[in-house]
Amino acid sequence: MTVSAAERRAMARARELGESVLGTTGHNPAVGAVILLPDGTPVGEGATAPPGGPHAEVGALAQAGERARGSTAVVTLEPCAHTGRTGPCADALLAAGVARVVVAVPEPTELAGGGADRLRTAGVDVVLGVEQAEAEAGALAAWLTGVREHRPFVVWKVAATLDGRVAAADGSSRWITGDAARAAVHRLRATCDAVVVGSGTALTDDPQLTVRDADGTSSGRQPLRVVVDRRDRLPATARVLDDAAPTLVSRAGTPADLLAELFARDVRRVLLEGGPTLAAAFLRAGLVDEAVIHLAPKLLGAGPSLVSDLGIRSIGDALDLTVVDVTPLGGDVQMRLRPNRHTGDVQVADRRG
Ligand SMILES: NC(=O)c1ccc[n+]([C@@H]2O[C@H](COP(=O)([O-])OP(=O)(O)OC[C@H]3O[C@@H](n4cnc5c(N)ncnc54)[C@H](OP(=O)(O)O)[C@@H]3O)[C@@H](O)[C@H]2O)c1
Repeated sequence: MTVSAAERRAMARARELGESVLGTTGHNPAVGAVILLPDGTPVGEGATAPPGGPHAEVGALAQAGERARGSTAVVTLEPCAHTGRTGPCADALLAAGVARVVVAVPEPTELAGGGADRLRTAGVDVVLGVEQAEAEAGALAAWLTGVREHRPFVVWKVAATLDGRVAAADGSSRWITGDAARAAVHRLRATCDAVVVGSGTALTDDPQLTVRDADGTSSGRQPLRVVVDRRDRLPATARVLDDAAPTLVSRAGTPADLLAELFARDVRRVLLEGGPTLAAAFLRAGLVDEAVIHLAPKLLGAGPSLVSDLGIRSIGDALDLTVVDVTPLGGDVQMRLRPNRHTGDVQVADRRG
């Protein structure tokens, strides 16, 4: 497949555009699209709007206007060929006179598939699978997990000292990390549809679990707050029950049941924020897709560790993770990791619009 340098740059930009709308697209994929003139100049950018709004290609075409005629559309996901709450993107590209379409991920669902064929039949040059792995690991990961496994993508986030403690021996845990790491947590929450804690964390820390600005005010769209509380221990005075954001108190018996409950509410990206008991339950069930660990250069020597007993007795059985990236955050360090495990690859139809 021949792909120009300008098209590769546009594909990197399209992935960024997809990332920029994570947490706002409901059950729709977070797609990015860029329109290029034949000389490689970008003239339009788009990303999936909230459900019912325009898809990425349509937004990018609107920006390009008449310049879209004879252009190349670079898109992270194959343009859909079905009518949901909006019309087929393949038809919008044809109507705009696009001559070439460069796609990262072929559409995995039968429902929306057939876009590339429809474009090719109309004489458009279509290239599929360009930087597909990068796109699948990025903004499309949550939606693809939903399509393939019928459950939300789970990001486990934890702040720990160098010796892996998430609280001191007296139970105090506030401000293990500094301002930059805490601001990063709020940005991370904003990319998720739901933030989950166990009753232990809700009772010990009484967190509010909202997305807040640096000055502490709640900002923008708020993810669903979820407390898993199987024994009704959460008091009515808990801050998570205030009116700053919607809250679900779940009695789900297993992480899989909880994820099914959240999936049915169109949650596609979950931030698991604690604590060690609930994190261990998710890890044991193989239901953590990504870990974001904030490490503070502090030592406590005692206190709860970042994950409770995983049932592992021998080093050979350790749960392996791959480091995706390491980023300094003020005086702390963020590690992003992916557990090494086989995931199902069942491809099914889904609904969206
Ligand atoms: N530094 C950090 O990033 C961070 C983050 C979070 C928490 N923490 C610290 O962690 C400590 C709390 O730890 P924790 O382990 O008690 O908190 P937790 O994991 O949030 O809560 C544990 C409780 O969750 C409930 N639960 C619901 N579903 C479960 C399941 N499938 N499996 C197991 N338990 C389930 C259980 O209570 P029920 O049976 O009543 O449902 C369990 O006792 C606090 O000191 C807090 O400060 C630190």
